[in-house]
Amino acid sequence: MADPWQSAYDFAVEVARMAGEEVRKAGESEIKVQTKSSAVDLVTKTDERVERIIIGSLKKKFGEGTHCFIGEESVANGQACILTDKPTWIIDPVDGTTNFVHGFPFVAVSIAFAVNKELEFGVVYSCLEDKMYKARRDKGAFCNDEPIQVSDVEEIKKSIIISEHGTDRRQEVVSKIFSSMQRILCIPVHGLRGSGTAATNMCLVATGAVEAFFEIGIHCWDIAAGAVIVKEAGGVLLDVSGGPFDLMSRRMICANNKTIAERIIKEIEIFEVTRDDTQ
Ligand code: IPD
Repeated sequence: MADPWQSAYDFAVEVARMAGEEVRKAGESEIKVQTKSSAVDLVTKTDERVERIIIGSLKKKFGEGTHCFIGEESVANGQACILTDKPTWIIDPVDGTTNFVHGFPFVAVSIAFAVNKELEFGVVYSCLEDKMYKARRDKGAFCNDEPIQVSDVEEIKKSIIISEHGTDRRQEVVSKIFSSMQRILCIPVHGLRGSGTAATNMCLVATGAVEAFFEIGIHCWDIAAGAVIVKEAGGVLLDVSGGPFDLMSRRMICANNKTIAERIIKEIEIFEVTRDDTQ
């Protein structure tokens, strides 16, 4: 049977590259910053403009009515965040907005595509490093067209783990985040890291540079593309409770294997977050 989504996949790579170039250029001029859910949840004109460019290009190519769109900035401006069975694009135009604002060199464009609520492909363009990560369901994962694979480390004590602080600064939440990190560090592991973009963090798991990444409070647009890339690179995705991964739950751990994921899960202090599809 003809492959129905190959041309969409190829086009997503083109659009991600074009969007990444826009982000890179915008980073060279003055950046005007606004805030969203909290004083540290940043958004810039570039986030909004690049999302409009991405969605505009996809609509022009695939028609207005047939495909749906979930974009970080469209949702911030009141659009619903519901994943249906329809072909749906899930977009983060600038993952790592805080990095972008400060010139910290990890910023990614993240574009995923789901049909019947199943992720078909994901593209993450780490635009300042010029690294194009991509994966299609059952077809492998790649960085700049070279196949990538998760690490083969089995022992937690030989691992590097990524986590992030997110944007919720309530004392009780920050305490749980740091408590989880402290417990993991003291297993002990080789190190804890964080690039400031969930999409890039997931790609680092996919390339084997680190063994795992977890976060509570991320959104579907931060992790949808990375989820396909990690899975196709041989990794696993789980909920932070050890249950099945749920794209809309705002909780996720991805790892090179289940042994590492389950060991980390034992140390994670879970806190409540509102699902993406009930906000
Ligand atoms: C953020 C980044 C960050 C993660 C936050 C996200 P944004 O996305 O992925 O690494 O810790 O939870 O909100 O806002 O820069 O697109």
